[in-house]
Amino acid sequence: MDNALLSINDQEVEFPVTEGTENEVGFDIRKLRGSTGTITIDPGFANTGSCKSGITFINGEEGILRYRGYAIEDLAEHSSFLDVAYLLIYGELPTRDELDAFHVEITRHSLLHEDMKKFFEGYPATAPPMSVLSTIVSSLSAYYPSGDSDEEINLNVVRLLAKLNTIAAFSYKKSIGQPYIYPRNDLSYAADFMHMMFAVPSENYELDELLVKTLDMLLILHADHEQNCSTSTVRMVGSSGADLFSAISAGISALSGPLHGGANTAVIDMLEMIRQDGSNFQKYVEKAKDKNDPFRLMGFGHRVYKNFDPRARVIKKIADEVLGQLGIDDPLLDLAKQLERIALEDEYFVARGLYPNVDFYSGILYRAMGIPTNMFTVMFALGRLPGWIAQWLEMKNDPDTRIYRPRQIYTGHNAREYVQIGRRAN
Ligand code: CMC
Repeated sequence: MDNALLSINDQEVEFPVTEGTENEVGFDIRKLRGSTGTITIDPGFANTGSCKSGITFINGEEGILRYRGYAIEDLAEHSSFLDVAYLLIYGELPTRDELDAFHVEITRHSLLHEDMKKFFEGYPATAPPMSVLSTIVSSLSAYYPSGDSDEEINLNVVRLLAKLNTIAAFSYKKSIGQPYIYPRNDLSYAADFMHMMFAVPSENYELDELLVKTLDMLLILHADHEQNCSTSTVRMVGSSGADLFSAISAGISALSGPLHGGANTAVIDMLEMIRQDGSNFQKYVEKAKDKNDPFRLMGFGHRVYKNFDPRARVIKKIADEVLGQLGIDDPLLDLAKQLERIALEDEYFVARGLYPNVDFYSGILYRAMGIPTNMFTVMFALGRLPGWIAQWLEMKNDPDTRIYRPRQIYTGHNAREYVQIGRRAN
């Protein structure tokens, strides 16, 4: 494609075109302000590329999602979460030996410093687990100072991957008043999490292989999603030179919002509300369409996917299979399917390309595992961690990275004279 030509006030400025490996095209406007004195305005950055990245590819029109070139469907079916974490962070799928060594490395760092247990004790039992998660991750930088060498950085990467599992499970144990269960090195990442969540010291806990496999797959499906809100937050905080733990802690906070990762909790709350209201889903479809009503169908719509979310397709299929095998008849699954069917036939949703996203069916599976609703977004964060880490590393090593510092168009008062306090109108 040719360069882009911008005509402004009788001046013509040419901008180079930059093209990705999947032929996506962007105009490189780095010289825009310097040569024209103008900037671009793009609320929500829907048309703005903040970086070049070789980690994740999404084609929202065709419902394609690939990590490092591998289709999400293949990874979900054949890989393990640690396999995918390695792929995202180090760029290639590991060999058997590399994966085994990675697992050993992770397990060697899964314990928390004993002093950190005092942090959990300081929180009220009602503390939202996402707040606990982000503050405890942030405090890791007090225990493990950031170094600049590749070895020091990699050590903190491994520490964080290992410890987030434990932190997440401890925050749950704290909220229900049960003793903390320490990590076990003989278990896989997902199995260890289930064990730390649900075991108690007084009896044996039998891991359910089907649920472990399902959790592992859910973690894979959430592992990266290119420049979404929380990942951009991680990159933004990291662009100032802040350490890994601080950047990821900020990402966790960004993820907690109901328009982002918090939607998986909001979906279950919504389905419960509809069920208690006589399962009148048509009423809620109408409310979602009403511009005077703030209600939205949670778990519907996506900034990038305008046809279908490939993650949602996999999860819906697995939800049917897993609930069937477990003999669970969850009325919320039926309700979700009915709601989806009605919405997908409705002109409002069709015209706007609004489809179920990753959060629409994931909560049904978490429920089947016995994970409480207030932990759903924590599960999203556990899954997203390797993606955040990979993106933070890519940002740190990219010579094009500059501190994130957008401009603005100022719309406030023009210069005015200062008024002494005694002379100000009440
Ligand atoms: N229910 C009803 N209407 C909707 C919905 C919805 N869930 N989502 C978007 N719309 C409408 C919106 O009102 C707008 O209509 P109009 O053009 O008439 O003004 C149009 O669709 C475009 O929506 P938008 O808000 O401009 O789209 P966006 O790209 O800024 O927002 C979104 C994307 C995901 C925040 C939004 O679809 C939404 O709020 N969905 C519900 C929350 C949700 O499920 N979030 C999880 C996203 S997937 C997990 C992740 O974060 O990775």
